[in-house]
Amino acid sequence: MIKKKPARSAGRSKSRPASPPRLVDVQITEIGARGDGVGRLGTDQVFVPFTVPGDRVSARVEGKRGDGLAAALVEVAEPGPGRVAPPCPQYGRCGGCSLQHLDDGLYGAWKRDLLITQLSRHGLGDVPMGEMIRVPAGSRRRAVFAVHRSKTVTHLGFNARASHTVVDLDDCLLLERPIAAFLAPLRAILTATVPAGEDGDVTVALTDNGLDVLVELDARLDLFDREKLAAFADAHDLARLSWRRPGSGFVEPIARRKPAVVHFAEIGVEPPPGNFLQPTKGGEHIIARLVTQGVDQAKTVADLYCGCGSFSLPLVRTGASVHAVEGDEAPIRALEAAANQSGLKLTTEVRDLARRPLLVHELKKYQAVVFDPPRAGAQAQAEQLAEGGPATVVAVSCNPATLARDLAILVKGGYRVQSVTPIDQFPFTAHLEAVAVLKRG
Ligand SMILES: C[S@@+](CC[C@H](N)C(=O)[O-])C[C@H]1O[C@@H](n2cnc3c(N)ncnc32)[C@H](O)[C@@H]1O
Repeated sequence: MIKKKPARSAGRSKSRPASPPRLVDVQITEIGARGDGVGRLGTDQVFVPFTVPGDRVSARVEGKRGDGLAAALVEVAEPGPGRVAPPCPQYGRCGGCSLQHLDDGLYGAWKRDLLITQLSRHGLGDVPMGEMIRVPAGSRRRAVFAVHRSKTVTHLGFNARASHTVVDLDDCLLLERPIAAFLAPLRAILTATVPAGEDGDVTVALTDNGLDVLVELDARLDLFDREKLAAFADAHDLARLSWRRPGSGFVEPIARRKPAVVHFAEIGVEPPPGNFLQPTKGGEHIIARLVTQGVDQAKTVADLYCGCGSFSLPLVRTGASVHAVEGDEAPIRALEAAANQSGLKLTTEVRDLARRPLLVHELKKYQAVVFDPPRAGAQAQAEQLAEGGPATVVAVSCNPATLARDLAILVKGGYRVQSVTPIDQFPFTAHLEAVAVLKRG
């Protein structure tokens, strides 16, 4: 069952603090894991977004956050040394970025430190860690935009911080230019086709044949709407335009003008509409290179949480025999089709790896295992690997906290962390990817 989301709006959030807001002076001493400045009020930690160490600020306490307090920045009384002018005019309103006010050196050091902190928490503070590889802003090739259709207009952009309020965007310095330029026409066609009061999402991905768009909004499209949408797809030379009504498993193809293809190791794959892709092409290439180097010429590799094969296909290209496993059937079918078309051999399996990880006797077939789970990590799989995994494991992650937990399980099971490489594909945010290579013994 799909839960109905709380209604979005373009106005103010209605949540209220438990006690009356109070203004306080705070000296910021560090930046926390979510990117907010941290100071103290008596014995309490207080989190103030958009601040840097050395700032003295006036802030409004808005409620509790964990063991501490959450506060909103009112004014910077004395700026700290690492503060710069944020480049985006929407910064502070839009929840897409939280760290544009940091100078580049401070930002880079803080972000790499996110991973060190999590590893240290799990007793892995001394593992060999490479420099952070940085993917520049302006290269996001996939984004999920929030939509709120009001009575008169359509709000389209990212949600405001900790809120369902949609902040309208006409540009965004994180995005590939064709996606940024598409925001205004997309807003106009949604106004023409979606009834007032609806909330939803639109996923836009830049494929090698143009934009691939999946609208997830409730609208009873009639023949005229479909014609309008098909003409829109023509006018903007879209690769594909699809529509899904929330709660329905059915994705309606509105226009499929060209194959919505992306290439992994020069092999064309057409992901299902809205499917996961690494957020940047540059980041994907870097991770795929670290993965193929990490498996170190293993002849038999299991690629777990494989998606559409962004690592499986480069691994097959190295000559490895690859078993690709994924919980979602549609990307597996896309990967199979791509392999068949290219005359490449690999085996596939649709399997829920959180509930049914590959067991020790199954792991025996492989010389190396790669895993790239969602943010929750791969605890169940790491436990099986710890009990009896192969000589090499390569862990890819978008969450330093669960990566550190999973690596600690592997280390306890006899693995040694050979290298960890942080990769920043999400500039100006607290999100960080990493690739870790582990060897047994
Ligand atoms: C971070 S993505 C990585 C995909 C792929 N490696 C890539 O680079 O495009 C995580 C993948 O895990 C899949 N997934 C999520 N939960 C899963 C589960 N319990 N079992 C198997 N696969 C799962 C998702 O469908 C998604 O394709």
